[in-house]
Amino acid sequence: MRKGAFSTIRFVVFLLLVLLTHVSEVMSASVPSWWEEMEIWGDEAAMELELDFPTMWMSQRAARIPVNVDSFGAAGDGVTDDTQAFLNAWDKACSLKNAVFLVPEQRHYLVNAARFRGPCESNLIVQISGTIVAPDEPNGWDPKNPRIWIYFSKLKGVRIQGGGVIDGSGSKWWASSCKINKTNPCREAPTALTIDASSGVRVQDLTIQSAQQMHFTIYRSDAIKVTDVRVQSPRDSPNTDGIHISNSSNVTIQNVQIGTGDDCISIANASYNIKMKNIDCGPGHGISIGSLGKDNSLAVVTGIVVDTATLTDTTNGLRIKTWQGGSGYVRAVRFENVKMNAVANPIIIDQFYCDSPITCKNQTSAVKISQVLYKNIRGTSKSRDAMKFACSDTVPCSNIVLNNINLEREDGSAETFCNCAMGFDYGFVKPAADCLRNDGKSACDGTRVDSQNQTLIPILHTEL
Ligand SMILES: *[C@@H]1O[C@H](CO)[C@@H](O)[C@H](O)[C@H]1NC(C)=O
Ligand SMILES: *[C@@H]1O[C@H](CO)[C@@H](O)[C@H](O)[C@H]1NC(C)=O
Ligand SMILES: *[C@@H]1O[C@H](CO)[C@@H](O)[C@H](O)[C@H]1NC(C)=O
Ligand SMILES: *[C@@H]1O[C@H](CO)[C@@H](O)[C@H](O)[C@H]1NC(C)=O
Ligand SMILES: *[C@@H]1O[C@H](CO)[C@@H](O)[C@H](O)[C@H]1NC(C)=O
Ligand SMILES: *[C@@H]1O[C@H](CO)[C@@H](O)[C@H](O)[C@H]1NC(C)=O
Repeated sequence: MRKGAFSTIRFVVFLLLVLLTHVSEVMSASVPSWWEEMEIWGDEAAMELELDFPTMWMSQRAARIPVNVDSFGAAGDGVTDDTQAFLNAWDKACSLKNAVFLVPEQRHYLVNAARFRGPCESNLIVQISGTIVAPDEPNGWDPKNPRIWIYFSKLKGVRIQGGGVIDGSGSKWWASSCKINKTNPCREAPTALTIDASSGVRVQDLTIQSAQQMHFTIYRSDAIKVTDVRVQSPRDSPNTDGIHISNSSNVTIQNVQIGTGDDCISIANASYNIKMKNIDCGPGHGISIGSLGKDNSLAVVTGIVVDTATLTDTTNGLRIKTWQGGSGYVRAVRFENVKMNAVANPIIIDQFYCDSPITCKNQTSAVKISQVLYKNIRGTSKSRDAMKFACSDTVPCSNIVLNNINLEREDGSAETFCNCAMGFDYGFVKPAADCLRNDGKSACDGTRVDSQNQTLIPILHTEL
């Protein structure tokens, strides 16, 4: 029995080796040198993350000290303001080793904007098993904290978990948004859950819903792992990004289900080594890098991996969006094993992004986009441009690589659109991507003619 198992393993290893050798032979035929760095980067980074995290969250068996918000006067009736009770319980839990900040199940805690600050003593667990709800009236919101609701900062090696719900009660905020009704003044709204200036934080098994604006922001942090998180808001709720990552590195997002009115996941400036695995997205605007380069700003994003994702009924699939006039770069991005179900723009690079009431001018500078791999992407497109690479005329995209793509539209009319996009494809690629050029001369057609009615279609994109 054992012997048999051993030889089976040996056979599988042999097969893998043969396969790997074969794959690298095939690859070396056409693949530039940066490729290998990128592949290696992906695997090494994954391993490092796996190795790092367990040591950070060790000593789970230590005697735990529960710090229950109820013991600090929280009513948990969904009506009484429990903000102060939460803050008092936090001060206690944060000051004890092996504490569990406990929000008990089957109760509703009404909490206004609250800052839960570290650093704390070691091995803190934040156990949210009940529901935390925000006051639903924007006019009564704490004016000192216009952009935050549940806000954690300066944490190290903390777990936030418990199966509970964080509910932003956002419907009145959405109705008062200038994106819903143009006569409303544009104003800020809180992010439901924020992790700021932290490292080694693990967020596991939580539901975040009906955020006032963004649901969950990871900001200025390193080594954050998010698993088994659900994010829910209606498809018409404005700016309700699911998970927003900004100025952070070494972040893993795994096994998440997100349906909102904006990007399921968005990755903003100064983010490095972000890995997303098993992502279920929809409705929403898809998985986005950006927007970047607004107001002529500098942006740097590198080392982004999306591996295994399903996007259903979203307005975009895998998107990189930058404004005209920015600078800096997006580099080393891998999108692989992605299923699209009726997605409007399954694969899109949009360097003419313009989320503004005024048309954005074309400018000479742009965020440089290079080394982007799309591999094993299949499913259905709602628009004709199943793949759209609308790159800057002055700073073209380079090293865009397509492998094993099968995107279809019901009427069979799917196409690939390119403006100043350089790269190549290999293996099965449908729709054909001949417009990706790798001869150093980029084709910048700018506009192109609609085949049915002969009108010019501009490539400028506006999202409001
Ligand atoms: C937009 O807001 C204005 C002013 O509050 C209101 O009169 C109007 O009916 C609203 N429009 C819609 C479409 O809700
Ligand atoms: C990014 O975060 C670091 C701290 O991690 C901070 O020093 C820096 O100012 C932040 N940069 C931006 C652009 O927010
Ligand atoms: C991210 O992880 C890598 C590898 O563990 C490490 O070298 C790097 O310092 C981390 N990034 C930050 C900003 O801490
Ligand atoms: C983006 O990040 C880079 C690198 O950290 C920083 O220099 C730049 O100021 C940031 N841009 C904005 C708009 O914050
Ligand atoms: C900007 O450049 C693009 C690409 O060349 C072109 O399609 C578009 O018409 C230009 N827009 C403006 C406002 O000049
Ligand atoms: C021509 O087709 C484009 C897109 O395919 C559409 O936006 C435009 O409205 C059409 N124009 C006319 C006159 O039908």
